[in-house]
Amino acid sequence: MKILSGIQPSGQLHIGNYFGMMQTMISQMESSDLYVFIVDLHAMTSVHDRNRLANGTLEAAADFLALGLDPERCTFWVQSDVPEVCELTWILSTIAPMGLVERCHSYKDKIANGIEPSHGLFSYPILMAADILLYQADQVPVGQDQKQHLEVARDLAQKFNNIFGETFVVPDPVINKVMATVPGLDGRKMSKSYGNTIPIFLEGKALKKRVMAIETDATLVEDPKDPDKCNLFAMLKLFATPGRLQEVRDLYVNGGAAYGYIKLELLELISDYFAEARRKKAEFLADPAMLREILKKGADKARVKAMVTLDLVRERVGLKY
Ligand code: ADP
Ligand code: TRP
Repeated sequence: MKILSGIQPSGQLHIGNYFGMMQTMISQMESSDLYVFIVDLHAMTSVHDRNRLANGTLEAAADFLALGLDPERCTFWVQSDVPEVCELTWILSTIAPMGLVERCHSYKDKIANGIEPSHGLFSYPILMAADILLYQADQVPVGQDQKQHLEVARDLAQKFNNIFGETFVVPDPVINKVMATVPGLDGRKMSKSYGNTIPIFLEGKALKKRVMAIETDATLVEDPKDPDKCNLFAMLKLFATPGRLQEVRDLYVNGGAAYGYIKLELLELISDYFAEARRKKAEFLADPAMLREILKKGADKARVKAMVTLDLVRERVGLKY
């Protein structure tokens, strides 16, 4: 089973990214043929700053490695180090119906959030389809927000296979239902673009400030409350043991749940959960030459697979004469 997913290097990773995608990927290392990559070409649709992009790429690499991804047991690389993906993007774009791409809501959402409406931003889903099809992935774990992009990849794979003959595996999305949408501080989906995140590697006062800012209602401590409607409880679910979660659930239902104390408990849980990864990330970032070496080796491995697919595609469409 080939499992593949990519992540943008454009900002601090947050617990939504971690529980929505990264944790699923890392846990698959033993049982599957795993492909993980940093999508710097996609990030260019919103980042036009050399240092931010380059440093963001190295930092995203350090994040994954610190959280437990082992480059010896998977293929881990930077998207732009395998240029074959750009050629496949063009080939797919020649069969991509305008209507299919126009329907993608992520483009509209991003423009509504102030990102410049460039052609690259519009054709973002085609580059993503090329990412997936180039490596013949069977499954792609993503958060709910990427489901539509997966549909585009599936449609393009099927259309290509119909026109040119069986070539691509049609990939399935894997959406972790419990974690499908991790809420942010304000209860909306946690996202960099809403500024409502808890970054994984935050610590001390900065972390405390975010956790204390989780929005809760104005009920009194002794009032009964519905845990399943509470944003704070939803976050606690990600970190607390089942036993402790049940105790807190009882406090909500019977009265006695004090938001302030629960936030302090959550703060400690988050801080402990990522303590080891925080230490490892600092070590990786202190040695960028080693990071580059790991990524280069990964790209060499990925490129071998990419070339096999692209060769077949070129043959199928008539680019080999
Ligand atoms: P953001 O919304 O902060 O810009 P990205 O779009 O870079 O995050 O998402 C990277 C990965 O993390 C994707 O697979 C995405 O589906 C997942 N993800 C992002 N936010 C969440 C969330 N709040 N809950 C669950 N998964 C998420
Ligand atoms: N668009 C994805 C996101 O914003 C990132 C991505 C790019 C991706 N290429 C991919 C995810 C291929 C899975 C597979 O989160």
